[in-house]
Amino acid sequence: MNFSYQNSTQIFFGQGQISNITQAIDKSKKVLVIYGGGSIKKNGVYQQVEQALTDHNWLEFSGVEANPTKETMDKAVTIIKEQNVDFILAVGGGSVIDGAKYAAAAAHYDGDGWDILTGAYKPQVATPIGVILTIPATGSESNANSVITKAETQQKLPFAATCVHPQFAVMDPDVMKTLPEKQLVNGIVDAWVHVCEQYITKASGALVQDGYSESLLRALKTLGDTYAERDNDLWRANLMWTANQALNGLIAAGVEQDWATHMIGHELTALWHVDHARSLAIVQPSLLRNQIEYKRGKLEQMGRNVFGLEGGSDLAERTIDAIETFYNQLGVATQLTEHDGDKAQAIELVIKRLEGHGLTSLTENQSVTPVEARQILEAAV
Ligand code: NZQ
Ligand code: ZN
Repeated sequence: MNFSYQNSTQIFFGQGQISNITQAIDKSKKVLVIYGGGSIKKNGVYQQVEQALTDHNWLEFSGVEANPTKETMDKAVTIIKEQNVDFILAVGGGSVIDGAKYAAAAAHYDGDGWDILTGAYKPQVATPIGVILTIPATGSESNANSVITKAETQQKLPFAATCVHPQFAVMDPDVMKTLPEKQLVNGIVDAWVHVCEQYITKASGALVQDGYSESLLRALKTLGDTYAERDNDLWRANLMWTANQALNGLIAAGVEQDWATHMIGHELTALWHVDHARSLAIVQPSLLRNQIEYKRGKLEQMGRNVFGLEGGSDLAERTIDAIETFYNQLGVATQLTEHDGDKAQAIELVIKRLEGHGLTSLTENQSVTPVEARQILEAAV
């Protein structure tokens, strides 16, 4: 087991923590506050930011859409360059944070920012970022990843760069009180699939990574099972912390990772605007059934240690059924209904997109080629 692990984001966790940004951001910095469609103005978060930054020099950029686009974020890049911004405060969910990461890196590059997503430019330097998280789901608040859409071509691609790793993240569970039900459920599902992508791979014997992954999955299962009690401080705090830990790099250290569900799911979002988490619930059960022989050992382990299932030769199959039941119990569909046109055409379109993005040998085994991707989609559409 070889790895290098660092997570340098300072976390301010708990109620009333937003005021910490007064000290966390140096007063000599010119700050750009980036946010989305305005939810922060309705729940008091914007007002708390205003108050905390009273003695700072700051300006704002709003209108980052869910599934942030390069086109929108390039406008923020212009502001960062023209106004000599030297600190970015992202106030929002994964979309705002990811958009801020793109802008922070693209502002230090003279070419087209999309080069970051194609890999033609690998950012080494970026404007420093701080985060106020408003929806627990992606883990973007303390990782180096970002997913950006190019509206013009309907492409949705990820990048990762150490230089965009946030310096700090404020995680106040009170901000979740205004979340629509749909977004709350999305958070549970996205965090769940993040753990699965790093855990349901080859048996590794990595006791810490496996054990911690199982703890996170059991926590999410409990939060789903007690969903009726969600209007509760501890429930909110538990979800916020679990979603963060699910994708902060720790459980991936030194083990194989899959991410095929995410790559196929991104195509569904780019084409039909399926919510990110919902795209994952559509793809994952079908992908696990397709890849069951590679993943049987880990699925059996998950069945025993997360769902408490009895042993037996069909344990892996029953574990996948339990995962699907978990999504359905949360009201999340595991079949695609958002596509337009007929099923065969929709599948063909996704396969073409995957091929176009070079995503032709996915999973830790490189065993999801366009042939398997087609089989997976046939069972999910
Ligand atoms: O724009 P506003 O008005 O703020 O509304 C947002 C948005 O419409 C709303 N919202 C957020 N906080 C709220 C709230 N509404 C009321 N009260 C609050 N406290 O929720 C909507 C969705 O927000 P979004 O940021 O899109 O959600 P999420 O955090 O699920 O982020 C999804 C994006 O992150 C990417 C996804 O692909 C998608 O683009 N991901 C990023 C990852 C990463 N950087 O590590 C990993 C993930 O796998 C994922 O791919
Ligand atoms: Zn995700």
